[in-house]
Amino acid sequence: MDKVVLAFSGGLDTSVCVKLLEEKYDVEVITACVDVGQGDEEIAKAEKMAKEIGGYKHYTIDAKEEFANEYIARGIKANAEYEGYPLSTALARPLIAQKIIDIAKKEGATAIAHGCTGKGNDQFRFEAVILAMSDLDIIAPIRELNLTRTEEQAYAAEKGIKLNSDKIYSIDENIWGRSIEGDILEDPANEPPEEIYAWTASAEDALDTPQKVSIEFEEGIPVAINGEMMPLIDIIKEANKIAGENGIGRVDTIENRMIGLKSRETYEVPGAKLLIAAHQALEELVLTTDELRFAEYMSTLYADLVYRALWQEPLREDIDQAIDHMQRRVSGEVTMKLFKGSIAPLTRESPFSLHSIEQITFEDKETDQREVEGMIKYHGLQAANYQKLNR
Ligand code: ARG
Repeated sequence: MDKVVLAFSGGLDTSVCVKLLEEKYDVEVITACVDVGQGDEEIAKAEKMAKEIGGYKHYTIDAKEEFANEYIARGIKANAEYEGYPLSTALARPLIAQKIIDIAKKEGATAIAHGCTGKGNDQFRFEAVILAMSDLDIIAPIRELNLTRTEEQAYAAEKGIKLNSDKIYSIDENIWGRSIEGDILEDPANEPPEEIYAWTASAEDALDTPQKVSIEFEEGIPVAINGEMMPLIDIIKEANKIAGENGIGRVDTIENRMIGLKSRETYEVPGAKLLIAAHQALEELVLTTDELRFAEYMSTLYADLVYRALWQEPLREDIDQAIDHMQRRVSGEVTMKLFKGSIAPLTRESPFSLHSIEQITFEDKETDQREVEGMIKYHGLQAANYQKLNR
C-alpha cells in the first residue's frame, strides 16, 4: 500500500484527514507534527490523538530553534509585516513543509497530505514548497471533497474520532504569534470576545506602571534583553511575556487573502511588535536616509512574497541578501517604554550611529552655517525656473 505523510496538528481538519485518507484514498498514513512552538500541551495532544486514531506511524519534529534562527530572525531583520500582521503562520509554513518532505523521503512515501481548506493561504504555502522541493504527489482531502466544518464534525463523530478539545475557534500558534479565526469572529460586525486572547492583557488589565525594556542587537538580530544575553528563542519568549502584560500585540484586521477574500483576522503578536519596533528604532539611528527608504520598500515587498507563499522565489533570497548586507551596521542598544498597549523608543545607542551631537547642537561653531546658503540656492533651481515662467 502507498504511504502518505500527513502534516498533522491533532485538530479537527487533520484528524478527519487520517480517516479520509485510509478510507477514500486507500493509503497508509504517517502523521507528522512539526513543533514550531505550538506549546508542549498541544504537541502532547497531537501525539495522543495520533495514537488514538491509529495511523501507521507518528513523528514529532522539534523545529523551534531552526524556526527562530532561520525564519523569525529574517522576519525581524526585514520588519516583515503584512497589513500590520507580523508574519507568523506565513513564516512557519515553509519550514513545516520542508520537514514533512524530509520525512516523506525517509519513509519512501509517494505523497504528502495536508488538512487545509480551499479558502486560505496555507494550502498555497504548503504546496508551493512541496512542488518546488520534491516530486511528491499532493493530497488535500478537505479541499478535494469540498467539506464544510459541520460535515467534518459529523464524519468525525461517525468514525468515533473524539476531538480532544472543545475549542470553537481555529487557532494557529507558534513562538512568533497566535492567530484566532472562526465562529463569531468571522463577522467583522462582532466584537472579539476577551476569551480569545491568551498572550496579551487588554489595555484595561495591563500593568499600571510603565515598563522599560532594553534590547541589544547584533547585525539586526536581538542578542540580549534587559542586559541579559540569551538565545533568540528565549528573547522572543521574554518579549512575548513583557509586551503581553503591557497590553501590546493585539491586531484585529480585515486581511486581503491570496484568493481575494477579505477576512477578519485577529492576532496576538506581543513579542513581534516589541522586537520589530525596537529594531526599527535602531535602524533610524544607523542607516542613511536612502537606506531607510529602500529598507521600507524591501520590507513591503518581502512581506508580500512571504505572505503569498513565494518563499522559494529567488527575489526572496535576493532581498534577504540585500537586507543582510544592510544589517551589518544594525548593532546597538535600544530602550523601549511599554504602557497599556502603547510602545515607544526612549533611548538608542550604537557604535555605528550616523547621528552626531557635535553637528546637530545649536551651540556648534565648527559647522559654518553660511556654507548652506549656496546649497539652498541651487537646491530648488528647476522649481524656481518653472515658477519664473509664470511670473
Ligand atoms: N491569515 C493568516 C495567514 O494567512 C493566519 C492563518 C492561520 N492559519 C490557520 N490555519 N488557522 O498567515
